[in-house]
Amino acid sequence: MSIDHDCGVLVIGSGAAGLTCALHAAEDSDVTVLAKGPLPAGSTWYAQGGISAVLAEGDTFESHEADTFAAGAGLCDPDIVRYTVEQGPECIEWLISLGVEFTRDDGAPSTPYHLTHEGGHAHRRVIHADDATGRAVHTVLLQQAAEDPRITLLPQRNAIDLIRLPTAEGRMRCIGAYVLDLASGQVEVFRAGAVVVATGGASQAYLYTSNPAGATGDGIAMAWRAGCRVANMEFTQFHPTCLYHPQAQSALISEAVRGEGGKLLLPNGERFLGRFDSRAELAPRDIVARAIDHEMKRLGLDCVYLDISHRPADFIREHFPNIYERCLALGIDMTREPLPVVPAAHYTCGGVCTDHLGRTDLGGLYAIGECAHTGLHGANRMASNSLLECLVFGRAAARDIATGRAWTTSLPRPRPWDESQVTDSDEEVVVAHNWDELRRFMWDYVGIVRSDKRLERARHRIDLLLAEIHDYYGNFRVTSDLLELRNVALVADLIIRSAGARKESRGLHFNIDYPEPADSARDTVLVPAPDTPRHPSESVGDPAS
Ligand code: FAD
Ligand code: SIN
Repeated sequence: MSIDHDCGVLVIGSGAAGLTCALHAAEDSDVTVLAKGPLPAGSTWYAQGGISAVLAEGDTFESHEADTFAAGAGLCDPDIVRYTVEQGPECIEWLISLGVEFTRDDGAPSTPYHLTHEGGHAHRRVIHADDATGRAVHTVLLQQAAEDPRITLLPQRNAIDLIRLPTAEGRMRCIGAYVLDLASGQVEVFRAGAVVVATGGASQAYLYTSNPAGATGDGIAMAWRAGCRVANMEFTQFHPTCLYHPQAQSALISEAVRGEGGKLLLPNGERFLGRFDSRAELAPRDIVARAIDHEMKRLGLDCVYLDISHRPADFIREHFPNIYERCLALGIDMTREPLPVVPAAHYTCGGVCTDHLGRTDLGGLYAIGECAHTGLHGANRMASNSLLECLVFGRAAARDIATGRAWTTSLPRPRPWDESQVTDSDEEVVVAHNWDELRRFMWDYVGIVRSDKRLERARHRIDLLLAEIHDYYGNFRVTSDLLELRNVALVADLIIRSAGARKESRGLHFNIDYPEPADSARDTVLVPAPDTPRHPSESVGDPAS
């Protein structure tokens, strides 16, 4: 029996959360980082608007906290909000010290950097690198990780499931992961002193999304199968403004465009957001997305329009060079005409339950970044608080791992992956069909506006799909597509269950059968059954299954 890789810390995910954790953890340990595709393929690479932090004269931690609470509609954890917001400036300093070049504004009174304005923020608070902040941050984090001799970066490795076993001390803990090597097609065993899940969100559960293809909620599904609680999965954030164009695949048009004066218009040129909220275009995203959805349904529209053409053309090109070029390539000149836009699934506010150090319910296992539920976002994440959360909790998890509390003196030997009972699939088409069906019914029945009837329809469909996928997974050799389908279907089930359990409307969850918020705000916490089904390999000798 072989252990293919023995590592100090195993980080699953090479986005902002995973790399931040890896760079800090490498001060004390060797670290292996996995990505299921190329290293820069997660959402981090595509982030546009920026990172929120209190940097401007006149801004305060209290103001950032108050705005986060207001967006989160009663469900933010006050201690976590304070903890996160207070670390914002240090995290930005850390990125600058590594070499991230944020856009400068030498005329600004308290900071040499340009701060932009986004929905829900009472101040200019979003530091950015033009309109491609994610690329600037990710490039530097990847360079630093590649240069660190204690970090091994392994792209094209798809983690299948976490390995949990009782230790010599008798406690159940996570000791590694089964991982599909996409180049060889072999499943490898990674054993580690601490495992960090940093796998990003699950917005690919929806037909229209701003997220890259890999956002299939793998870490949430893996942690759930390993026995961890998951919370607030009903709060999928729909970004109000994704480009509506047949070749654009829901390309994001940053909220910063509205922050710099962009107006949302109906086809007749009427500005309509003021009818829904006094903050108009700068209301939090749930309000803006629902208002657009309402107008599109009321008037039978394919899209609405975002117009910033009243600002000088040079200003637009300077502030939004990438968005400008992308639109121009599609034949739309945003300096002269409005952009056609629609809402699309953008961010998973819920996730694996963790504490302020990223610790999950399972010893040795951490969850950080978009896959985690820390309590920061509540019922609706405020713009640009996500990258901040990745930085704060990536560092916190690394520091906790360094204390040694997560470690154990003797790691047991995991079982090898067992393929003795499976064959190659003869019906790959089933996977493609199931994918398509799932994303469509999630969009139609579990989207921006929900009802009990729609959720019930989704419930029937997901039950059928889960049974089919379970059967398929038990009989056929794993492929990347099958693994992603298995995970996204499980996460869709968690979303439907959470949405069904919330008998009110709050934040991003709007149900026409309960249009008002309840008197008290509660998280939706799902607890996995002890017999959650796993792969045959893991059931052998695993007393937890
Ligand atoms: P990601 O960056 O998504 O990385 C996930 C990693 O996990 C990837 O490396 C992936 O390969 C790996 N992975 C996943 N599953 C597996 C598996 N099974 N095995 C191995 N590896 C796996 N937020 C902001 O705060 N500001 C913004 O301006 C902003 N703009 C955005 C614009 C767009 C278009 C999008 C999509 C999101 C934006 N967000 C923004 C949200 C933010 O970018 C993400 O929430 C954040 O980057 C998530 O980082 P992460 O490290 O948790 O995950
Ligand atoms: C954007 O630029 O609009 C995205 C910001 C975010 O999702 O936080």
